[in-house]
Amino acid sequence: MAPANAEPSVDLRLQERAAALAPELTSLRRDLHRHPELAFEEKETSARIARELSALDLEIRTGVAKTGIVARIRGGGTGGGVRRTVALRADMDALPTPDRKKHVDYRSEVDGACHACGHDGHVAMAVGAARLLAERKADLPGDVVLLFQPAEEGIGGAEPMIAEGALDGVDFILGQHMLPSIAAGEVGVSRGPALAAVDEFLLTIHGRGGHGAYPHLTVDAIVVAAQVITALQTVVSRSVDPLDAAVLSIGMVKGGYNFNVIADKVELRGTVRTLSRALRPEMSKRIATIVRGITEAFGARFDLEYIQRYPATINHDSGVELFLGEAQKALGNDKVHLTAPSMGAEDFAYYLEKIPGAFWWIGCRKDDAEDPGYGLHHPTFDLDERCLPVGAHLLAQSALTYLTHGADR
Ligand code: NI
Repeated sequence: MAPANAEPSVDLRLQERAAALAPELTSLRRDLHRHPELAFEEKETSARIARELSALDLEIRTGVAKTGIVARIRGGGTGGGVRRTVALRADMDALPTPDRKKHVDYRSEVDGACHACGHDGHVAMAVGAARLLAERKADLPGDVVLLFQPAEEGIGGAEPMIAEGALDGVDFILGQHMLPSIAAGEVGVSRGPALAAVDEFLLTIHGRGGHGAYPHLTVDAIVVAAQVITALQTVVSRSVDPLDAAVLSIGMVKGGYNFNVIADKVELRGTVRTLSRALRPEMSKRIATIVRGITEAFGARFDLEYIQRYPATINHDSGVELFLGEAQKALGNDKVHLTAPSMGAEDFAYYLEKIPGAFWWIGCRKDDAEDPGYGLHHPTFDLDERCLPVGAHLLAQSALTYLTHGADR
């Protein structure tokens, strides 16, 4: 246990131990990489994690939100009398995409599944942090709860994890994600919003079909859809404060039968991203208003289904300051970046809506001429595995500092 008046400096022993774990973390990550599993199907992944943790004498609950794990390190230290509990979260699902890496021997052995978002690395780093913290369990002045979460991609495993008690008794939460735009050995974090809220809409425009030669007898759903698509581009450009970020993208248009047939129906699907909580509901209202006005003007009808998916991931100042302090001490100020928010989304957002904490980026760019590093979700995405001990250490060190000093120093 650190004395109460200890300087809050980086624990060199922890950093050295993390560096020594590099071979094991790399081998675990590669094993997971060869055997990716999709959302809510992470059975072998979960079993593998449970085996890794079982050697550490933790209280392990499996089958949380189907395949998730909640593992508690019950610290034996007393600290300054205040006992806190911090959660460390790693997602563990892969993406339904092929693995097209060429020059590595740990390619996915599962057809149509690949760890193209680096969640294999997230698991390895969290297992590493668990090991580092379990080694000093007797002196830990609080508890650490490891959350291995299913289904971050699309469906969302965080909400069911919370519903099944993942945050019960937890005061603070920390999480991290690979980011290939930052070099391995460097990290980033955003103050306030880190990732966007993501919504989805399905719009069907109903016209009246007919012969391509007699348009005056029809209501051409394709022409109406074209007006709607164009007008929806004004939602962000004309209705949103330029200093408030939003995205509206239509990713699917489906309609029509033949060159000489006027379509009776067109289906559109799109995504809406926002960073601020206030803007989110305004976007759906504006979209509905535009669609209503245009379809009415052309004598068409519409069905609009608007689905709210993940909220924005908004970091708490206390979590950001805690992480910045630890990262700067461990890596040096020049390796720690304040990053702009991403318009991607993360279901870590749900945890941060319940309790304070932070979500940060672990640089993982792979500068390899043969397999150049591509972005997240790309079929050739790979990571520079030198980032694994960095992430394991920062997760463990931030947790340790939180347990020892709290987050409001
Ligand atoms: Ni991801």
